[in-house]
Amino acid sequence: MDTLYSEKNRVLRRSVRSFCEREIMPIAKDIDQEARFPWEVVEKMGKLGYFGIQVPKKLSGAGMDSVNYTIVIEEISRVCAGLGLCVTVHNSMAIYPIMGFGTGEQKQKWVPSLARGEKIGAFCLTEPNAGSDATAIEATAIRNGDHYVVNANKVFVTNGGVADICIIFVRTDPDAGRKGTSVIVAERGTPGFVVGDIEDLSGMRSNPVSSIRLYDCKVPVENLLGREGSGLKIGLQALDVGRIGIGAQAVGIAQAALEEAVKYANQRRQFGVPIAKHQAIQMMIADMATQVDSARLMVTRAAYLKDHGKPFTKATAMAKLHAGEVSSQVADMAVQIHGGYGYSKSYPVERYYRDARVTRIYEGTAEIHRMVIAREVLNEYK
Ligand code: CAA
Repeated sequence: MDTLYSEKNRVLRRSVRSFCEREIMPIAKDIDQEARFPWEVVEKMGKLGYFGIQVPKKLSGAGMDSVNYTIVIEEISRVCAGLGLCVTVHNSMAIYPIMGFGTGEQKQKWVPSLARGEKIGAFCLTEPNAGSDATAIEATAIRNGDHYVVNANKVFVTNGGVADICIIFVRTDPDAGRKGTSVIVAERGTPGFVVGDIEDLSGMRSNPVSSIRLYDCKVPVENLLGREGSGLKIGLQALDVGRIGIGAQAVGIAQAALEEAVKYANQRRQFGVPIAKHQAIQMMIADMATQVDSARLMVTRAAYLKDHGKPFTKATAMAKLHAGEVSSQVADMAVQIHGGYGYSKSYPVERYYRDARVTRIYEGTAEIHRMVIAREVLNEYK
């Protein structure tokens, strides 16, 4: 697997791993149990460029490509998936739409502080009645002179509790159906911008996932991204990019589960030998390692295609689908190898098991991904 990467990729991986093991690993269990967002680490990550991974240096970013992006996300998620989630959503779902569709002025206004990690970004699409069906959103932004009056109820917003700059999907023309969807950028602190309670989630607990509500919130017209009616395309394009990051996150969780399972299998003795000597355990370890490698290869391929300006929707959907399923299966086998201890909070594998589960749900469920892949394949061979 390692030969796939350049020396620069490997140096980056080593440096991110060393930071994560030094700064995040010691607190990963506690921030999960306390559901605490670790600002002290986030500040350091900002200084290292993790919050502006693909942003050009002139806008205060690290100027890396997508393959390096997957390496950073995988390594953070290997240690703490909740922080991996924060970083991937911030980079792909908040910064990317501004970089991809914003004007020069909009980029100058929002991107540098996001890229330095001084401000945190969020992507607000999901609503109580709109999840997989992104076209069903009910939020509205009605133009009134030089501003929009925005009313929205966004739920399950990753980074919601700490986000300063939010990408909000709204209807600017409620009668135009899916063609009336637009994207506006709303900033925390604007009157009418309300952060709801933090969700008490099963996994990803260090991420302050919350609802965000806008009540008659006046947002300047300059905060519209792209043009009115282009919201669905912006959202789906951002999701194509974001899903590479979720795939990388899933690989990171699976990698961690594999490593813990091997460590435990070599320590735990039953029937007079370490359980790693038993063939039943070896079969699981072989399957886990093969699955992790296959998921990483697929995620890297999707990132490579994006970096080379090739279509990557299908490759990304396949990578995210596969990595999400691999992550759950590998974490499940890691729990199985740990036996009763795997079901206890004394060992990290139960956290991986909880964290892995949502990678098959957010940024498009496994079922939506099968739909996207089937559409592409049916189109390809017709
Ligand atoms: N890139 C750019 N444009 C795209 C696109 C893509 N990948 N896919 C479709 N489009 C365009 C289409 O060309 C079409 O444009 P026209 O109207 O001009 O023809 C338009 O977008 C609508 O496309 P579809 O007709 O294919 O739309 P659809 O209603 O059939 O839905 C879908 C397609 C794949 C199901 C899509 O709705 C989808 O991906 N849904 C899942 C949404 C999702 O991931 N939700 C959760 C995200 S938020 C989150 O998870 C929170 C977090 O922070 C982690």
